[in-house]
Amino acid sequence: MIIDGKKEAELLRHEVKKEIDSLKLKNNKVPGLTVILIGDFAPSQIYVKNKEKKAKEVGINSEVVRYPKEVSEQEVLKKIKELNDNNAVSGILVQLPLPSQINKEKIINAINPLKDVDGFHPVNVGNLSSGYHATVPCTPLGCLFLIKKTESNLSGKHAVIIGRSNLNGKPMAQLLLKENCTVTIVHSKTKDLKIECLKADILVAAVGVPNLVKGDWVKKDAIVIDVGINKMGDKIVGDVDFDNVKDKVRAITPVPGGVGPMTIACLLKNTLECFKGR
Ligand code: GUN
Repeated sequence: MIIDGKKEAELLRHEVKKEIDSLKLKNNKVPGLTVILIGDFAPSQIYVKNKEKKAKEVGINSEVVRYPKEVSEQEVLKKIKELNDNNAVSGILVQLPLPSQINKEKIINAINPLKDVDGFHPVNVGNLSSGYHATVPCTPLGCLFLIKKTESNLSGKHAVIIGRSNLNGKPMAQLLLKENCTVTIVHSKTKDLKIECLKADILVAAVGVPNLVKGDWVKKDAIVIDVGINKMGDKIVGDVDFDNVKDKVRAITPVPGGVGPMTIACLLKNTLECFKGR
């Protein structure tokens, strides 16, 4: 089965829109999302444009604040403070990566955790790992949604996550632990990736290595989630060798059209939840 992330994202966006419409009728207020975009890194420009468009479509008041790549850290911190204090802003997202003069840690720490729609603030990271209520990073949240569409009972399943980033691998592991999976994280220093991947009932690839996961790395009946977005010539490919894996497993997400659309839909959902939580 090929998991249709585009369709699932559309359904989720529809739900978010319905709820925003009804909140608007009741309170005459809608969620506000401000994205800060620094510099001219092409993929970030595309992601942010998509986020803005989809946010507007569901009725979120969406704004993008753009800075040239030379902007000072102080100026960005000042803007974040202003947005923290602005009641019309429910969510703040600083698009990564950041230019080298800007300290990512300082920027993330400056965002009010209640407005941290990315779920990157240490308060949200800590709450998630403690099993408390938290805003969860959009991509792993979208991955979990797609996994659960395929298999509702994850208890006791062996999940293998390739990649240990703060954006994807680590929060993905926390989410799957919460679902009572046995979780293994593998990474660039892991001795035998193939052997570990072959144990997976659920395999999440989030490393940014094109076509890394081969047809003989997967178990029959595995659910394979591909977070990779890699440019190969003028084609976009994932971290999984899709053509050679798809017929060997129970379910797999394509790239594009798998996890990508879910990430944005989850951002809209997180923005709505931040709005409701205040
Ligand atoms: N850059 C790539 N993915 C993301 C994301 O999910 N959030 C932010 N803020 N930046 C990103």
